[in-house]
Amino acid sequence: MALNKKPYKGTRDFFPADKRVQDYIFSKMRESASLFAFEPYDGPMLEEVALYMAKSGEELINDQIYSFTDRGDRFVAIRPEMTPTVARMVAQVHKEIPKPIKWFSIPNLMRYEKPQRGRLREHWQFNCDIFGATGRSGEIEILQLIVKLFESFGANKDQFEILINDRDIVNAVFNDLMKVDEETSLKLYKIIDRAKKVSAEALQKMISELSLEPASEEILKNYLSVQSFEDLFKFLEKNEQTDKLTSFKELSDVASAIGLADYLVYDPTIVRGLDYYTGIVFEVFDKHPDNRRALCGGGAYANLLKIFNENPVAGVGFGLGDVTLTDFLKTHDLLPDLSKNDVDLYLTFQTESALAKNFELASQIRELGFKVSNSLSPIKFKKVFTLGDKQGAKFISMLGENELEQKILLIKNTKTKESFEVKFDELEKLKDILS
Ligand code: HAM
Repeated sequence: MALNKKPYKGTRDFFPADKRVQDYIFSKMRESASLFAFEPYDGPMLEEVALYMAKSGEELINDQIYSFTDRGDRFVAIRPEMTPTVARMVAQVHKEIPKPIKWFSIPNLMRYEKPQRGRLREHWQFNCDIFGATGRSGEIEILQLIVKLFESFGANKDQFEILINDRDIVNAVFNDLMKVDEETSLKLYKIIDRAKKVSAEALQKMISELSLEPASEEILKNYLSVQSFEDLFKFLEKNEQTDKLTSFKELSDVASAIGLADYLVYDPTIVRGLDYYTGIVFEVFDKHPDNRRALCGGGAYANLLKIFNENPVAGVGFGLGDVTLTDFLKTHDLLPDLSKNDVDLYLTFQTESALAKNFELASQIRELGFKVSNSLSPIKFKKVFTLGDKQGAKFISMLGENELEQKILLIKNTKTKESFEVKFDELEKLKDILS
C-alpha cells in the first residue's frame, strides 16, 4: 500500500512559499523583541508531564497534551506551551542574573485539538516573558510590545484590540464579594471563560445550575455587565474594593499616558484557561467580523516559580501563534507578496561549453553580495524570461557563444526589459545595475 503523502493531521508541510511567509512573520517578531531588548532563549521539545500538571490547567492536561512513557519509564510530553519551560529555566538562574529578565522564543508546540480555522495540532508561538519587574511595569511593557509588533505589520487600532482583565479582580468578585467556595469559584471560572462562545440563555442556565445565593448572583450579574474601565472603577468603588481599584487604575493611567488606551478594552469574561495567572489576563482580538477570534493570549503569573521550590519571581508574558497571526494578516491584507523567491540574478547559459564559465561568474557575482541562481543546465533563449520570472529574479542573463567569445555578460531587467552589457573583467559594475 502506498504511504500517505499528506502531513499528520493538524500539522503543516511548509513549502517554500509558506516558509517565506513564516520567515517574514518570525523576522518581525525577532525585530520587535530585540527593539525591547528581549534576549532569545530556547528549551527542549520534550518535558516531563509533571511540569504541566502543576499549573497549566485541566484542559491542557486532560484533553490536549501529547504524552507518552519513554524507554526509561519517564512520563513525558511534547511541549504544549512554553511558559512552564521558561519558568523552569528562570528558576535555575534567577538568583545570579539581574532583573528584570526579558526573554523571547518562537517554539513549535503541539496540542491535540480538533483542527479548524485558527487551531491546529502543531503551531509556532512567539513567547515574550518578563520576570522580576516591579509593580505593574512588566505588564505595561508586555502590552506595549504587543502593540508595537502588530503596528510593525502595518496593523492599526481599527483592526485589533486587547481585551483585558485582572485575575486579582475576578478572585475578589468570587471570593470577597460573592463569597463562594473554591469549587464554585473554579466552576465560575470555566463558565465565564465560555461566556462569549455561548448564548445569553445558555450562560444564564449554567449560572443557575450553581444555585448561588440571590445576592451573589446579583453581584455576578453586575460584574458581567461591566464594559469599560470607567464601569469597572465604578463597580469596584461601589463594592469597596479600594486596593483593586488603585492597583488597576495605576495600570490604566500609565497605559493612557503612553497611548495604549486606544487598544485596551476591559472585558470581565477574559479569565483564560491556564491556572498560573494571578494578575492581568488578556487576549488580542481581531476586530474584523470574518475573523473575530483571539490572536494572542497572556497574563501575569506571580507564583509559578514556587513549583520549583524557589522564591516567587513575578512573571508576565504572552504567546502569539503563527496560525492566528497569519489569518489576521491575510484578513487585513497586510502580507507583502511573498509568492516568489527573492533572487537578484538568474544566470543562464545556452551551451554545455559555457557551464564552467557560468559557475565562475556565479561565484564572482555572489562575492559582490548578490543572490544568484545558476540555471545549472543550458536554457533555451526563449525560456529564460519565463523561468526567471518564476524564480522571482529581478535580472536575467544569457551566456551564449557570442558572449563567451566577446567576454561579456548580457543582462536584462525582467520588469523593464532594459539590457546591459558588462565585461567579464569589470563585474564590479554590476553593483550599479543590480542594486
Ligand atoms: P494560550 O492562550 O494557550 O496561551 O495560547 C496563546 C496563543 O497561541 C493563542 O492565542 C493562539 O494564537 C496560539 N495557539 C494556542 N493553541 C493553538 C492551536 N492549537 N493552534 C494554533 N494556535 C494556537 C499560552 O500558551 C500561554 N503559555 C501564553 C503565555 C506566555 N502566557 C504567559 N506567557
